[in-house]
Amino acid sequence: MSISVTKKLCSLFIVLSYFTYFVIADCLFTSDVTVYIYNGIPDSTIDVHVKSGDDDLGHHNITLSLGYDFHFCESFFQNTLFMGDFADNSRSAHFHVYDNDVANNVDDSGAATFLNVYWLLKQDGYYLSKEFKPYDDPSWVYRGSWE
Ligand SMILES: *[C@@H]1O[C@H](CO)[C@@H](O)[C@H](O)[C@H]1NC(C)=O
Repeated sequence: MSISVTKKLCSLFIVLSYFTYFVIADCLFTSDVTVYIYNGIPDSTIDVHVKSGDDDLGHHNITLSLGYDFHFCESFFQNTLFMGDFADNSRSAHFHVYDNDVANNVDDSGAATFLNVYWLLKQDGYYLSKEFKPYDDPSWVYRGSWE
């Protein structure tokens, strides 16, 4: 193969890689965020209802073995807010499952391409982590209680 054809193929490859990166990353210039919500209370069902100003993600039942997750692109202004309403048989909890404060808690750099947020509901309240951990792991950070 001539040098110029090789060069052309190389630049084509670089251009394709560049576009593939954005297709995989999905979000242009902002974080690609996935929020995971788990129920750590054995033999319970928790009704999860997540909504933002634009989106109502509906009601979902979660159990010890069945979590719920959703996915979005952080806004360019980093002002995305998702509210979570939670209810088991007798109690409820309401907190921001994603906002700037939550993002800062799970992303030390403030510039992650992919950001994961993990919530765990336990008997005494709800916990946050930037990584998935076993439900009894002490590194889950307590963030508030049931009402
Ligand atoms: C959740 O479970 C309750 C009780 O079994 C049921 O009435 C309700 O329809 C379920 N909700 C969803 C969204 O599946």
